[in-house]
Amino acid sequence: MPAKDQAPVTIPDFSRWKTERRKISVLTAYDFTMARLLDASGVDCLLVGDSLGMVVQGRSTTLGVTLDQMVYHAEMVARAATRAFVVADLPFGTYHASVEQAITSAARFLKETQCQAVKLEGGLRTAPLIRSLVEADIPVMAHVGLTPQSVRRLGGFKVQRDGDAILDDARAVADAGAFAVVLECMPSEVAARVTAEIPIATIGIGAGPDCDGQVLVTPDMLGLFEGFRPRFVRRYAELVEPIRKAAQEYVADVQAGRFPNANESFR
Ligand code: KIV
Repeated sequence: MPAKDQAPVTIPDFSRWKTERRKISVLTAYDFTMARLLDASGVDCLLVGDSLGMVVQGRSTTLGVTLDQMVYHAEMVARAATRAFVVADLPFGTYHASVEQAITSAARFLKETQCQAVKLEGGLRTAPLIRSLVEADIPVMAHVGLTPQSVRRLGGFKVQRDGDAILDDARAVADAGAFAVVLECMPSEVAARVTAEIPIATIGIGAGPDCDGQVLVTPDMLGLFEGFRPRFVRRYAELVEPIRKAAQEYVADVQAGRFPNANESFR
């Protein structure tokens, strides 16, 4: 189904798809070239995740990512999307201080980029912020379960197993007006219960098959990292070897004087 034959995805589509049990596909994107490919492939939603701190910037957590960096990447991704809905992460330290800080940070994505919504982490404790953002006409995707920005408090990236607490968090963000919620790293039974009990779309990552949609970090699903293989990532490609091979051939060709040839040169 070519993307150009389809209308751009909007917020009402998320609740309609939940009602129709039509699963929602989400992938992360950080630059124009990849976002254009993913959009043309029919992905419903592109998430400019602060995971870019780890998969683009090479950090061990997402904590060092700045708002300026997120806006820079969000702008490139949103420029590429013709159909996919584009959501950008509010990075650590840019929304917890006050409602004013959250609105000022989030508004940058809607004013300076073509993103349609922001994502922020946290359940009960961030629900008041979500309500204020939605009242300020800034659509919010929430994120509960394993919230990577809480890595220091949680003591690592661990599966979250307190089903009652996760359900309370998911209910709180739905009541506050979030249009969808990411459920990260929890037992499938917990995600299934949350999905059945809240009215907004759930987007799972490491949360089993019963969520209304799924999200993966694109470099993970494309197999761009050799060592990193979490259980919940399915690799749809193995790109390390082809890229290494191409680069090695290029180096050999340059060193041997085989590149460029006459057809690749101007006369
Ligand atoms: O930052 C990110 O890419 C995310 C996804 C893992 C959901 O939050």
